[in-house]
Amino acid sequence: MITAPAFWDKVATKYAASPIKDETAYEATLDRVRSHLRSGDRALELGCGTGTTALKLAPSVAYYVASDISGAMLDIARDKAWDAGARTLSFHQGAPGEGDLPEGPFDVVLAFNLLHLLPNLPAALRDIASRLPSGGLFLSKTPCLSGAMGLLRPVIGVMQLLGKAPEVKFFSPAALERQIEAAGFEIIEAAQVHKSNNRPFLAARKL
Ligand SMILES: C[S@@+](CC[C@H](N)C(=O)[O-])C[C@H]1O[C@@H](n2cnc3c(N)ncnc32)[C@H](O)[C@@H]1O
Repeated sequence: MITAPAFWDKVATKYAASPIKDETAYEATLDRVRSHLRSGDRALELGCGTGTTALKLAPSVAYYVASDISGAMLDIARDKAWDAGARTLSFHQGAPGEGDLPEGPFDVVLAFNLLHLLPNLPAALRDIASRLPSGGLFLSKTPCLSGAMGLLRPVIGVMQLLGKAPEVKFFSPAALERQIEAAGFEIIEAAQVHKSNNRPFLAARKL
C-alpha cells in the first residue's frame, strides 16, 4: 500500500485546485475557531494541506506554524503564503506522534480533516497534549466515519489497494471525544457545523 506522504504528495496539485465543498460549513467552522483564538496566541496547525485555512486564521494570532506530512502540500502552501505576504505564518514538515513537530511552546493546536487519517490517534493526541500548557486549546473538525459511512469500508478498501484513497480510521463522534479526553483534555465545545453531525467541531482544553 502507498505510504501517507507519497499518497498526499501525489494528490497535492489536484487538492489545491478543488473548491471547498461546503462553504457555509467552512465559514461556520472558521467562526467557531476564531471565537477561541486570542491575538497573543502561538498556534500550531497539523495537516494544513495547501494552507488555505492557515492563511485565513494566521491574522488572528501572534504567530502560526502550519505543518503537514506532505512536502508537496507544503510547497503549494508556501507559495500561497508568499503571494499573500503572510509574515506571521511559517511551515514545518512533520506529523503528530512521529516526534518531528516543532517544540513550541504553543497555546493552541489545530487540526482540520486530519484525525481520521492518523495511524495511531492516541499517540498523536498525547503528542498534541505535550505541546500545550495546562489551559491550552486543541481545536479540530474531523470526519467521523462510523455509522452509515462505515458501510463504505469495502469500497474504501479497494480504493486503498489501488492507491486512490489514504488509510482511514472509523470512529463515532462520541468515541473521538473519549479519545481526546483520555489524552488529558476536557471538551469545552462540540458544535454541529455541517448539516449532518458526522464532522463536529470540537474545542478541548488541556487539564
Ligand atoms: C484531507 S487533507 C486536509 C487538509 C486541510 N487540513 C483541509 O482541511 O483542507 C489531509 C491533510 O493531512 C495531511 N496528512 C495526512 N496524514 C498526515 C499525518 N499523519 N500527519 C500530518 N499530516 C498528515 C495530508 O498531507 C493532507 O495535507
